[in-house]
Amino acid sequence: MNGLGGFHEERFVSRVEGKLDALLSRGHGKLDEAARHICLAPKAKRARPRLCYLFGQALGVDSPLLEDVAVTVELIHTASLLHDDVIDEGDVRRGFPTVNAKWDNLVAVLTGDLMLSGALLQLEKHPVPVIMGAARVVYQMTRAAMFEADSRGNLDLTLEEWESIATGKTGVLFGWCGEAAGHLAERPDMAEKFSRCGHLLGVAFQMADDLLDLKGGAAKDPFADISNRNPSYPLLRAIQISPSLGADLKAAWAKDELTPEEVRKLGHAVLETGVAGLTMQVLSEKIAEAIDCLGDYREAPGGSDIVGWARALWGSLSSDPMPV
Ligand code: IPE
Ligand code: IPE
Ligand code: MG
Ligand code: MG
Repeated sequence: MNGLGGFHEERFVSRVEGKLDALLSRGHGKLDEAARHICLAPKAKRARPRLCYLFGQALGVDSPLLEDVAVTVELIHTASLLHDDVIDEGDVRRGFPTVNAKWDNLVAVLTGDLMLSGALLQLEKHPVPVIMGAARVVYQMTRAAMFEADSRGNLDLTLEEWESIATGKTGVLFGWCGEAAGHLAERPDMAEKFSRCGHLLGVAFQMADDLLDLKGGAAKDPFADISNRNPSYPLLRAIQISPSLGADLKAAWAKDELTPEEVRKLGHAVLETGVAGLTMQVLSEKIAEAIDCLGDYREAPGGSDIVGWARALWGSLSSDPMPV
């Protein structure tokens, strides 16, 4: 999924990483150490800075301001990971111990806050709509994190509610990449369309991540969403297909603890409903809708690479061609 925009995209990402490195070496002691530990981890995919580059390229934005946007988006994202790992009690992130595991929750929360404020301060020279857009993203992500935490263990969550969480935790930040590029190009019409495209790509990305949890992959233990009582998209769809599975899952989630064997059995029962294929179908519809928002830019440099990125997201989960 990386580097579809080629040499210039890689050079852009290196410059962004250089700026992150400089920004997180300002003598804040433990907070800088923790920020560097997570933010400069080699396994970070930098999906959001890459999208910034591609949206900017589509609109001919060739300015250091686009690099600020990419630095901001990666800092907001990484801060959200720090806070998420406190909420989820996660112990591994980007292949290394999480900040909450290596230091503690206090350091993780405050490092996240430092990164969020540092992210907004990057935008000093930017037009007001770019700055306000970033502030709105942080506001929406915070509300979505609370909604998600309140929804833990809730199998009555509706698909609309799932989508609203996914939009808030992932979609709005992807959307801001396109929106900011539109404003930097002084194209408010495209800011709106690219924002919508980013929202849809973000929801698709979250759906792919939910599906990866069921399928298991090199980087993840399978079925963590079942053991963590996370009502993921495929789980919500699987219990619509099989109400008896819904009853089993509800009973399991009512217990204090689940054995690995119980989790594995439930995971296989979920997969037997055929929900993976159904999720892939919905994923392809989201991707097709996102591509539509690009309009004629889907054929242009940058735009065509976003299409490639979205298709690669599909390809990371299936060897079948995308149906739409
Ligand atoms: C992880 O994001 C959180 C989700 C939105 C699923 P990424 O998969 O982009 O994580 P990094 O930045 O590469 O570590
Ligand atoms: C990560 O979410 C945090 C945000 C997207 C804001 P998840 O809890 O779904 O992702 P992982 O599995 O920890 O990366
Ligand atoms: Mg998590
Ligand atoms: Mg989480």
